[in-house]
Amino acid sequence: MNTEIGTDLNKALTLLQSGQTVGVPTETVYGLAADANNDDAILDIFKAKGRPTSNPLILHFASLTQALPYIDVFPEIFQKLASVFCPGPLTFIVPKSSLVSPLITGGQDTVAIRFPKHPTLQELLSALGRPLAAPSANLYGQLSPTTATHVLEQLTGRIPYILDGGACWEGLESTIIGLENERVLIYRHGGVTTEALAEVLGYSPAAKVHEHNGVLTSGMVKHHYATQTPLFLGFKPSHENQNALQITIGKNELITGPHLVLSQDAALTEAARNLYAALHEADAAQVLKIYVEPFPNNGLGLAMNDRLSRAAAKFAS
Ligand code: TXA
Ligand code: MG
Repeated sequence: MNTEIGTDLNKALTLLQSGQTVGVPTETVYGLAADANNDDAILDIFKAKGRPTSNPLILHFASLTQALPYIDVFPEIFQKLASVFCPGPLTFIVPKSSLVSPLITGGQDTVAIRFPKHPTLQELLSALGRPLAAPSANLYGQLSPTTATHVLEQLTGRIPYILDGGACWEGLESTIIGLENERVLIYRHGGVTTEALAEVLGYSPAAKVHEHNGVLTSGMVKHHYATQTPLFLGFKPSHENQNALQITIGKNELITGPHLVLSQDAALTEAARNLYAALHEADAAQVLKIYVEPFPNNGLGLAMNDRLSRAAAKFAS
């Protein structure tokens, strides 16, 4: 199959309507989308990514009104959070209605729903008039894409079309939340920070981001979001000068050899926007190792440390 990149929304729409998969831009990372009401198209998502079908997908909607038929209950506290953060990088786990195929939920009776902010995707969802199921548009376990070219690098020959909406401006996947015993819990750190949620909730939501009772979310899998080049958290030892690449949050005059800076001003939002692109670039730089300076453990730093520690876990001996 020939994979094309373009900005033709009608082409993307026609392909989706005919049951094909399309790479689509979101504000977080690119998604690999298919009509959520077409089981064959959903199966093609799993096939293209090499992802196990036990790993559930997020449903993307243009609005809460469009989502209501697909869910059983949308708790009041989620409505409050949605009114503040949506459309945007926040995903809600809620009881599903019978309209949602078990292929999307991995057989679970809950479904993940999200209202993306990217105008191109909003236009596509409105034109389609039905939800799109979409995981991140990468091969299973590998780096997430924040440009159409990143998608092409991993999925070329596997999907017909990538709708180019420019570089993703958040750069990190959505925050995933659920409700247990009347309390909001974070299942995956992401674009909406714990601190921002706490401000609305009046308490700091606990995080449940590690495996329990088997795999529930791929974000909980220990090895994930990985580069091909071995990746380590920290600073490279001086003897590895030219053979290893260092990524730092801000400028650092002490680093010698290959070096990428995520944000000249060491600003976390800019670092988050650039993180995956820097990892893609580092992976292509033909070095033996990649070292990444750890982020402060708050705000967006929590989500970035989470992704990096799962990537590094793959190479820990
Ligand atoms: O920002 C994002 O969320 C991006 C863009 C494309 O929207 N999507 C994304 O999808 O990151 P994916 O499939 O790479 O990660 C979604 C996570 C997975 O870890 C999946 O296991 C979890 O959401 N998930 C989906 N449905 C779930 C459910 N019913 N219960 C618990 N976790 C669920
Ligand atoms: Mg993913």
